[in-house]
Amino acid sequence: MSKPSLGVCYYPEHWPEDQWKDHAAQMVAAGLTWVRIGEFAWSRIEPAPDRFNWGWLDHAIDTLSHAGLKIVMSTPTATPPRWMIAKHPDMIAVDKGGQPRNFGSRRHYCFSHEGYKKESARIAKILGQRYGKNPDIQAWQIDNEYGCHDTSLSYSTNAETAFRIWLIKKYATIESLNAAWGNVFWSMEYTDFNDIALPNLTVTEPNPAHVMDFRRFSSDQIIAFNRVQCDVLRDHTQAPLIHNYMGRITEFDHFKLGADLEIASWDSYPLGFLEDRSDQDEAFKTEFARQGDPDFQAFHHDIYRAVGTKAWWIMEQQPGPVNWAPYNPAPLPGMVRLWTWEAMAHGAEVVSYFRWKQAPFAQEQMHAALKRPDGQDAAVMDEVKQVAKELDTLQGQKTQNSRVAIVFDYASAWAWETQPQSKDFDYFRLVFDFYRGLRRAGLSVDILPPSTDDFGERSLIFIPGLFSWNAKLETAISKFEGDVVIGPRSGSKTQDFQISEKLPPGLEQLNMKVVAVESLRPGNEIPLKQGGAFRIWNEFIESSETVSEQTVDGHIAITNKENIHYLAGWPDDTAMSRILKRLAVKINLETICLPRGIRCRDWGDTRLYINYNNTPAFVQGHTLPPADILLIHKDGSVIIGPKEMATQ
Ligand code: GAL
Repeated sequence: MSKPSLGVCYYPEHWPEDQWKDHAAQMVAAGLTWVRIGEFAWSRIEPAPDRFNWGWLDHAIDTLSHAGLKIVMSTPTATPPRWMIAKHPDMIAVDKGGQPRNFGSRRHYCFSHEGYKKESARIAKILGQRYGKNPDIQAWQIDNEYGCHDTSLSYSTNAETAFRIWLIKKYATIESLNAAWGNVFWSMEYTDFNDIALPNLTVTEPNPAHVMDFRRFSSDQIIAFNRVQCDVLRDHTQAPLIHNYMGRITEFDHFKLGADLEIASWDSYPLGFLEDRSDQDEAFKTEFARQGDPDFQAFHHDIYRAVGTKAWWIMEQQPGPVNWAPYNPAPLPGMVRLWTWEAMAHGAEVVSYFRWKQAPFAQEQMHAALKRPDGQDAAVMDEVKQVAKELDTLQGQKTQNSRVAIVFDYASAWAWETQPQSKDFDYFRLVFDFYRGLRRAGLSVDILPPSTDDFGERSLIFIPGLFSWNAKLETAISKFEGDVVIGPRSGSKTQDFQISEKLPPGLEQLNMKVVAVESLRPGNEIPLKQGGAFRIWNEFIESSETVSEQTVDGHIAITNKENIHYLAGWPDDTAMSRILKRLAVKINLETICLPRGIRCRDWGDTRLYINYNNTPAFVQGHTLPPADILLIHKDGSVIIGPKEMATQ
């Protein structure tokens, strides 16, 4: 991998043409290499059906490339223009309450509308034909943020028809569908696939097996929609294909979608995400309001490193206050530089800022950018320039596999959303708790898809909350010599969303059974003998294997047979740290107890320390100011650090 580089998202169509040349020159002067364009420009490219306006886009591409920038061209399919709705009125997505979504923002299309899918292929083809061979266009982004704004699931009649076809392919006969879903329950048996509706607007909860199939189907529809554009673009360009994913969006299988693309990128808005989609309490949000959750970004970097088949990027990096969270504070000075370095230490090839110049109009006029609406540099520009300079000090650091990994499975997120059994049981939250525990112990972590059939040279694998086994993962476990921690709730359902007669977790290596489960209210935690407690979820186990931990009232908390461990509950922070530490000692893995808000990441022969606090910290013999970084070689020499920052 070459050295990482920086980029920016740019909307030439938002600015008079006579500003473009200056913008491009200023981007280059700031040390930016990449510029992404075009993802919302359909109404300017094709103002009316089959009437194209290429002049401005040709000119924008020429201007940017003459300045020396590499271009990411995007397909504009996240924003079908108004005429498209007139042409295909039923392409609009329908929400769970049965309401069609209106034109007037974005992502208003239904993935199951064949007519719109064809329109998407058509515009991708036309763009590919025009620009696919242009050497300055060095990557292509398809669409924008699938699933954003709650748009993965559509309850339209097009979706219903497509779902029936999907079910026929899966089950062939209505009898096998009835058996798989257990439709004898509540007289839900069907006699014809055409009688099956989508699982919304039912009186009480629909059958979880029905919902689970709808979730699988909906994920497949997004993958199919994306694949059509991939196929078309590949006929016209050799450049890598990218999608920009989001934070904490689990509605479609990113691993499967990512297999069709070369580069996974994601849009990192640390402060927006802390306000908008964090499980942390108010005190935590206040403490980290200007820095972001110290683990949220890293977790997604590690997921998307696994999703990208060739590389991963940050396509949109928050540069200042956003406009869409309940509160929109400004980052502490230094945070944008910190976020950028953190991403690169996790292997990001490119970090691209959103956006070049703050728009004075429309929905995002309150969203900060690298340039203010008056065209002057925003304060953050100095941080961007600083990173651009610091990139020269890199020594070709390479991302290596970590010794520790966690399996992340999108289908499990759907399953436990369908049947949480507790308002607090959330799959993302469970996995993220393990991740946070590992990071607090100073460990670098890999995320693996559930289709992994070999854990490689790793030493410690976690498989929390996996709803159902698959043959590949079972193979990986059976040939692995390191330690594996399974549970809680792993293997608790068949693929048909039923409880197996043998009882969970159904692993032949472990002679044990989960005989009953319960969910816990806050305040009803179950204390463990060795410290800490189970919260949210607790299981009762019968086991002929070693009992390595018990609850205070004498139930099995962890049982293991040699290197395979089963964990019978959701550990709180104290229990998590203690359990992880005990396992690390067992396998000779060095851990450190990092001060609050300090995190580290191993990167080749170097280690990056970051201070997510708004107060200084003392790390490796150095004082690390708030929102600052220390990139240190394993021989102790400082490569980039606060000292350099002070001399800027
Ligand atoms: C992203 C999106 C951008 C912009 C940005 C604002 O989710 O891809 O187009 O809306 O958020 O933070």
